[in-house]
Amino acid sequence: FFCSKNAQYEHKWTDDRMNPTLLRTFDFDSPTAAGGSCSVGQAWAKVPEDLPGQRRDELKARIRTLLRRENAVLVAHYYVDAELQELADETGGCVADSLEMARFGRDHAASTLVVAGVRFMGETAKILSPGKRVLMPDLDATCSLDLGCPLDAFSAFCDAHPDRTVVVYANTSAAVKARADWAVTSAIALDIVADLHARGEKILWAPDRHLGAYVQSQTGADMLLWQGSCLVHDEFKGMELELLRAEYPQAKVLVHPESPPAVVAQADVVGSTSQMIKAACELDATHFIVATDQGLLYKMRLAAPGKVFIAAPTAGGSATCKSCAHCPWMAMNGLENLAGCLERGAGEILLDPALGRQARRPIDRMLDFAARRDRRVKASGDLARDAALFSAVGPA
Ligand code: 13P
Ligand code: SF4
Repeated sequence: FFCSKNAQYEHKWTDDRMNPTLLRTFDFDSPTAAGGSCSVGQAWAKVPEDLPGQRRDELKARIRTLLRRENAVLVAHYYVDAELQELADETGGCVADSLEMARFGRDHAASTLVVAGVRFMGETAKILSPGKRVLMPDLDATCSLDLGCPLDAFSAFCDAHPDRTVVVYANTSAAVKARADWAVTSAIALDIVADLHARGEKILWAPDRHLGAYVQSQTGADMLLWQGSCLVHDEFKGMELELLRAEYPQAKVLVHPESPPAVVAQADVVGSTSQMIKAACELDATHFIVATDQGLLYKMRLAAPGKVFIAAPTAGGSATCKSCAHCPWMAMNGLENLAGCLERGAGEILLDPALGRQARRPIDRMLDFAARRDRRVKASGDLARDAALFSAVGPA
């Protein structure tokens, strides 16, 4: 599954005034260059092995008991193993996109949040719930976008453009968020940037260049883009997708916006993981080609039984394939390390409180924006409620 050829990711920004001394190249197979986190190769090496059925059942029973004993709730991302998703659902936790994971953890009464996902998701949970204990099955589970946006280079980028509003994707470290005006996830990036653009603000965007380019193309905003990318989505191939569509002309194409422009351009729906599931349920089609981590297919099949989901083509099988449409860091979450973190309190996210407070401001802004947007959306569907919502509004 894992290919040993090193991938080089250049993190530079597209700007005429670009300072060549600030260009960086990160090698995700070198732990040192990756900032001490787990490289791609190390991640694949740490992916839990398949366990015999009886051991899996024992571990699941143990996890259920430990969640109760520790007053804990399991918050999982759609890309983690299907058995972890099942456990989260059946124990009253949640399986969601990164926006909903953040909201769910913040609002849940449990004193311990167990985040099955990657590091930035655990950090976001801790930032929003500093009084709760936040555990992760493996703290080394990171993200190529986070790795590719180190604080020093990012700060220099911000310092060079003080006139711009700094918008960072949720897939970043707490330290990078602390330097930002806004945090966004893929579920809300378009709406927030469109709003900032309407208010005349110029944007400095980091780290995902494809999501940034997509948001720019949809909103017309003036955006300066950091050149990071997602190891998984960057592998989807436009030309091969065209060939696959020719084989399945009736299929609708669902694409996560971290994918390259040639793939996004062929999409019927571009959206976050939750938005892709919603589209699979609501669109009048039987076949879907899906360009995102294949972990999502588990929930898609549950949500839309009887429909057929086909994985979009990647560089799979070639020498450059690093993920074959599955995130190596998400794959590090397993039953053994999940039980272990609950049993021993291992894998706890610890954040400097001052940094946490600083990083919370852009996330709170995003969540407040989402709450206002959701109220507006609901208002258009329910007349009785609309009347109540607008009762305090005077004449224009
Ligand atoms: P979502 O916010 O759509 O869940 O995406 C998170 C992510 O890491 C996608 O690769
Ligand atoms: Fe990061 Fe990509 Fe993995 Fe999502 S799928 S966590 S963006 S590397």
